[in-house]
Amino acid sequence: MPRRVLVTGGTSGIGRAIAARFTAEESEADVIVTGRHADTVERTAKELGVRGLVCDATRPDQVAALADGLGGPLDVLVNAAGGLPEDAPTDTPPLEALLHTWRSALEQNLLGAVLTTASVQEHLAPGGAVISIGSIGAERRGGAYGTAKAALAAWNAGLSADLGPRGITANVIAAGYVAGTGFFRGAMTDERHDNLVRETHTKRAGTPEDIAATVYFLASPGAGQLTGQTVHVNGGAFTTR
Ligand SMILES: NC(=O)c1ccc[n+]([C@@H]2O[C@H](COP(=O)([O-])OP(=O)(O)OC[C@H]3O[C@@H](n4cnc5c(N)ncnc54)[C@H](OP(=O)(O)O)[C@@H]3O)[C@@H](O)[C@H]2O)c1
Repeated sequence: MPRRVLVTGGTSGIGRAIAARFTAEESEADVIVTGRHADTVERTAKELGVRGLVCDATRPDQVAALADGLGGPLDVLVNAAGGLPEDAPTDTPPLEALLHTWRSALEQNLLGAVLTTASVQEHLAPGGAVISIGSIGAERRGGAYGTAKAALAAWNAGLSADLGPRGITANVIAAGYVAGTGFFRGAMTDERHDNLVRETHTKRAGTPEDIAATVYFLASPGAGQLTGQTVHVNGGAFTTR
């Protein structure tokens, strides 16, 4: 049976590479990508030969409609949508601005995955996999973004316990620095890039394809006993020992 794969945030960077990996490996797969903007969703769907659905993962009304658009059982859910929080307008009072930033970080990096997973959970097929893209930031400087990604990993542990009896795995991939995506919104400097590369053991930046390869493995039958974990893909920039 061809697999059905849903990749949120599949119009750019890591999510796009994940969708491309599934289509390259499994020509019959029904791959669906989401994003918030119709133009990029349509363009990506056309370029990759996948289905595209406009869906803001932080909006319950849109996420509910997403479940209806699947068209059948779901084998793989990848929660890749996320990113740095939005700043409040400059004239916002300090505490209001702080709240805005933290709400944005939590909505983008935790609640989007929680809502999407809840919406499609009953459609997940036995042998399926839920993979959420976390960050090395969860292990380091706190801040709103790192804290939200740490919460994503905490949520994943409970999700794994809930889905395990159905033969479905749930894991987080904590990505290190991945170059060539829209994540840094043009703010990456040569100096910062060099510093991030220097702290890896591999002495290179990660690529979206590095993350896609690990997603593909976690969604394979060989990874059926691998669940409830945070898998670090960072070139050694953070080691678990
Ligand atoms: N790049 C890195 O160094 C790095 C490191 C660690 C973790 N990560 C994580 O990797 C994931 C992918 O990031 P990336 O580097 O590939 O960045 P990216 O190129 O900016 O891709 C983000 C994708 O998510 C979509 N998106 C954002 N918010 C969304 C929402 N609320 N609902 C649906 N789609 C949404 C974006 O499309 P629209 O804007 O059109 O909606 C885009 O397709 C994120 O979770 C990020 O936190 C990245």
